[in-house]
Amino acid sequence: MKITVIGSGHVGLVTGACFAELGHDVICVDHDKKKLQTLKDGKIPFYEPGLDKLVHANYIEGRLSFSGDTISAVLASEIIFICVGTPSRKTGEVDMSAIKKTASQIAQALNGYKLVVEKSTVPVETGEWILKTLKKQAPKGVEFDVASNPEFLREGAAIHDFMHPDRVIIGVSSQKAASYLVQLYSPLNAPILMTDIKSAELIKHASNSFLAMKISFANMLANLCEKTGADVVKVAKGIGLDKRIGEDFLKAGIGYGGSCFPKDVSAFIHIGKKSGCNFKLIEEVRNINEERRMHFIKRLEKVIGKFKGKTIAIWGLSFKPETDDTREAPATYIIKELIKRKVKNIRAFDPKTMDNMKKIFPNIIYSKCPYEAIKGADALLILTEWKDFSHPDLLKIKASLKKPIIADGRNIYDPQKMKRMGFSYIPIGRL
Ligand SMILES: NC(=O)c1ccc[n+]([C@@H]2O[C@H](COP(=O)([O-])OP(=O)(O)OC[C@H]3O[C@@H](n4cnc5c(N)ncnc54)[C@H](O)[C@@H]3O)[C@@H](O)[C@H]2O)c1
Repeated sequence: MKITVIGSGHVGLVTGACFAELGHDVICVDHDKKKLQTLKDGKIPFYEPGLDKLVHANYIEGRLSFSGDTISAVLASEIIFICVGTPSRKTGEVDMSAIKKTASQIAQALNGYKLVVEKSTVPVETGEWILKTLKKQAPKGVEFDVASNPEFLREGAAIHDFMHPDRVIIGVSSQKAASYLVQLYSPLNAPILMTDIKSAELIKHASNSFLAMKISFANMLANLCEKTGADVVKVAKGIGLDKRIGEDFLKAGIGYGGSCFPKDVSAFIHIGKKSGCNFKLIEEVRNINEERRMHFIKRLEKVIGKFKGKTIAIWGLSFKPETDDTREAPATYIIKELIKRKVKNIRAFDPKTMDNMKKIFPNIIYSKCPYEAIKGADALLILTEWKDFSHPDLLKIKASLKKPIIADGRNIYDPQKMKRMGFSYIPIGRL
């Protein structure tokens, strides 16, 4: 099939490369000229394991190309995937400007039957809005359909998730649209759930809000464990072994971040309010999450005393491992708070994220390796659970730090072992 993907970011580029790998002809469109040039130069504008090889192979074989011209790309395609960003406004409402612009451009290029698929995460009823826009702006008599096909990939495991999804959600209003999408996804051998467009749109926001709720539940539990002396890792395991609950997304820590959960939770609250539904449950999920960073800082403060004049080492800056994405990363909030509290130096290390973090915090010190960051520091903060940090030379850390204080926002070490070795170890939800 001939496919255009509009928006070549984390979702669009993975979608385009994976469909090309499945044998389709794909044009990945983006309006960011710098990003396009990077792609045309054979580089990937962000870190995603395996994506460089997949993009390169399909580009060389001629199934994948890049363009800045949305209209020409749409003219040449049968299926158009909208993968542009849908960020949050301050009110929590979704900023739909990229979706609106894209819909108008697609309308101008409808020259025969085309299926327009929203893959971006959008509020319920967006499909209806796109349909009306296309009807209003497209040439008379031209045939098209709109469908919703939300994406559930995780950054860091995006290719695996795209190629081996737990399920494919297809929201359609015509048999023709359904058959195009079933044909496209059937090689993945994944369960396909066919719904109406509005239900498909809601499934995405509801899924992310539910996962965020599990994380906030674990974090609320962590607070109780800290007060009572229980161990949140064991309690979460005990809950999660119940198949009805499941172990995933029950890790207590410094809260969720990234480009999806924070904005999707806010959007869901906004959608609820707009529709006259009380979403206090999800509001509390967000509140608990926002309190996490301050809770972490306060736990550290009890051990370290005043931050003013201290040197703090940080391991991990991305919102999770295996990505260089800093959007809403807990590290950004913690660094801002440390700066506010007038620390003397922040020395940070992250395997992939330092270039992106330099754009946000140009004035902190970025170290060449984890051990350079900790030399003479008053404390080490673990903010992302990269594999690189899981088996460090603890004796070297102890010898390098001014005082052996580690605040572990991701619970990656064994508290008993750390204490035996003489560390002041501050985990989350356990003693
Ligand atoms: N990142 C994830 O893990 C993830 C997972 C599932 C769903 N989503 C959803 O997918 C959508 C895209 O997310 P992302 O992380 O890929 O965003 P992104 O910011 O990485 O990429 C969006 C791309 O769209 C381009 N763009 C914006 N407006 C455009 C226009 N009018 N024409 C052409 N290109 C345009 C931008 O330049 C950018 O490259 C969002 O709705 C997001 O919520 C993201």
